[in-house]
Amino acid sequence: MIKKQNFMNYKIKKRKKSFVKDELLKEKVRAGRNRTITLSKNEINSLKQKLVVLSKKCGVSTIENKTINQDLRDVIKYLPENFVDLLFIDPPYNLNKNFNSNIFKEMSAAEYENWLDSWLNPLRKILKPTASVYICGDWKSSSAIFRVMLKYFIVRNRITWEREKGRGAKTNWKNCSEDIWFGTVSNKYTFNPDAVMLKRKVLAPYRDTNGQPKDWQQEENGIFRLTHPSNLWTNLTIPFWSMSENTDHPTQKPEKLLAKIMLASSNKNDFIFDPFLGVGTTSVVAKKLGRKYSGVEIDELYGCLTEKRLEIANKDTSIQGYVEGVFWERNSLGDQKVKNGKRNNSKQAEDLFAYTLKNGEL
Ligand SMILES: C[S@@+](CC[C@H](N)C(=O)[O-])C[C@H]1O[C@@H](n2cnc3c(N)ncnc32)[C@H](O)[C@@H]1O
Repeated sequence: MIKKQNFMNYKIKKRKKSFVKDELLKEKVRAGRNRTITLSKNEINSLKQKLVVLSKKCGVSTIENKTINQDLRDVIKYLPENFVDLLFIDPPYNLNKNFNSNIFKEMSAAEYENWLDSWLNPLRKILKPTASVYICGDWKSSSAIFRVMLKYFIVRNRITWEREKGRGAKTNWKNCSEDIWFGTVSNKYTFNPDAVMLKRKVLAPYRDTNGQPKDWQQEENGIFRLTHPSNLWTNLTIPFWSMSENTDHPTQKPEKLLAKIMLASSNKNDFIFDPFLGVGTTSVVAKKLGRKYSGVEIDELYGCLTEKRLEIANKDTSIQGYVEGVFWERNSLGDQKVKNGKRNNSKQAEDLFAYTLKNGEL
């Protein structure tokens, strides 16, 4: 019998403010090509003015395109109802993890399931009847997520994505994958497969009986096919130091991952909500793709990094690996770099170049 763990006492440990500040403001020595987004003291002071704190029930316009800097436990009761088209959730996984001002403590699988339930159940009120819900987890959290989602949603799929940045272990398999559970509130929901086509190089270019290409087209730099995406995603790169989207957040998701989900499960001007916003990947991608957004993040510095990334997105709307309406495979730098006989010097190509150099995959 597990002890009932309610919403108000789950194990999140606050760290002493003075310690957090010292850690954050310490100048790190970074390599020349390092493009990690950082904040100066002045930037923190100015960006934190943009963060929203709720103390009473609010309307949608109060939180639209804003970052709520609060504990989710204190916020749900103040959120409006029935306004979200897509809920993307990347909660702390069931691991000991340091998130700057708070540490998430590993618990038993049953306690973790209770913890998920404690905020997912009340959060349902923000969803439209046509909304979709995605929840991320690793192998340890995944079954708890599935069970809780089954209670409240129609579970439609589990996406597994290759997370190539895992650490090796002497007594276990290296952990190189994560799951994202996909569910909907009802049978009426948005799904746009044509918006998330994958561009693949064709090794065996078959022709039909009339000699016409079978589902492929000849381009300047090879033969390609556009294919529908499956629930196995192997073309993502975890942000790292030479990518322009990178921050020092320990579990930042790739923009490309959010782009795939948003393009498939929302339309322009839809409202996307993220209750564990981190450094704002969801908000940034929503902005780049013309969606409305809001999210909750307990840590002030992460909230400020979100605001800085949103400012950068005013000028740069590119998403690494998503070019001209299609998602490219990993290791396709050579193909992306040549277009109409010209080299592609875009930010995406540069990011990919940095990645391929690092991984020796050129
Ligand atoms: C897995 S991370 C999300 C990362 C995010 N997807 C990104 O790409 O930046 C989870 C985040 O939840 C935040 N968090 C943890 N407990 C919270 C709470 N009770 N309320 C709001 N945020 C919380 C942590 O500070 C952390 O940044």
